[in-house]
Amino acid sequence: MITSQENDQLTQVGKGTLMGNLLRQYWHPIASASRLDQEPVIEVDLLGEELVLFRDRSGRLGLLERGCAHRQTSLGFAMPEENGVRCAYHGWVWDADGKCLEQPSEPEGSSYFERVTTIAYPARELGGLVFAYLGAGAPPHLPRYNVLVWDDVYRETNGTTVPCNWLQVLENLLDPAHIENLHGRYFGYVLDRTDPQEAEFFRSRIAPKPMKGMDFDLFEQGVIERHYCMDEQEHSWTTGSPIFFPSTAMMVRNEGSGTLIFVVPLSDDRTWFLEHRAMPLGGRPLPEGGAPYHDVPGTDSFGKLRVGTANGQDHMAVVTQGARTSRQREHLGATDAGLIMYRQLLLDQAQGFADGAEPINVHRGLAANRQIDAPPARTAEVNV
Ligand code: FES
Ligand SMILES: [Fe+2]
Repeated sequence: MITSQENDQLTQVGKGTLMGNLLRQYWHPIASASRLDQEPVIEVDLLGEELVLFRDRSGRLGLLERGCAHRQTSLGFAMPEENGVRCAYHGWVWDADGKCLEQPSEPEGSSYFERVTTIAYPARELGGLVFAYLGAGAPPHLPRYNVLVWDDVYRETNGTTVPCNWLQVLENLLDPAHIENLHGRYFGYVLDRTDPQEAEFFRSRIAPKPMKGMDFDLFEQGVIERHYCMDEQEHSWTTGSPIFFPSTAMMVRNEGSGTLIFVVPLSDDRTWFLEHRAMPLGGRPLPEGGAPYHDVPGTDSFGKLRVGTANGQDHMAVVTQGARTSRQREHLGATDAGLIMYRQLLLDQAQGFADGAEPINVHRGLAANRQIDAPPARTAEVNV
């Protein structure tokens, strides 16, 4: 049973909070590189901080506190310069390290600029995504998940901003019990009302089968969710879906073909749900303009949550729990074992970090900078 205090600890992501401090030990995606190519200065949010991300004219990425340190106008409207960005208001120039390089509105000869700085964080690009690290001190390695580093693949990313706390979105990934009902029975009901012919096809060919078993394992970098519908040879049982702590799920079937899901805590009550896919190029040329990013709106033109896709159904399920759901009001069942395990892992890791321990899935040192693959598949022999 979760107390209201534990619920706050689990869900608050701001600077100085228990979980906010833990989440700041990890790199999180904040933008697609292709978006930055089109628009070199953009406003981004991460862990409750309002920031601005830019690529300056020399190609360097910068991530700064959004409000200009002069008088708080958003640097989201700044102009890229050779080294940094120039604020749209009075033209102060800030570089990627947060140093002020110029103050054209100050008296000639003033050296005031040398004594003014703003908050700056590291940002790096990998696999067509830009990642940020908001922790203090030297950042660990940016994790080289296999899907992000494969060569000769076509990549694309779909993203939706989900108006609720990140942990609700993450917990849904540890909840195979909903698949049959939400993505089967309910999906069929939605199709009955929009496209009866499609509903028939869906029920006969696509609807998920009844679930026969599920299980959850801890591994050294996180938790593995497993389930099967037919028998225990299924990929979803043997390999399962590993969730790399704290918020990256990996689904890989073959080398060169797979998906990473990033659950990005933008603030206490907004989450960026990102699906990054890679697939073999198969002789096709790489698209111009890099890996495309598609923004998938979570609501229709009336502001109603879209439930015509599996992702939309998932988002409906978690958004309607409330912006930050009250876990103390839940009545958990046997099938909620995965999310119970994850909550405990989060609290243990956050407390451990507060006490000075290095959290799991933080990689430092030369030898640790290697490709990260899914943990080995479970076989019938080592099952149970
Ligand atoms: S507010 Fe940015 S230069 Fe004045
Ligand atoms: Fe789902």
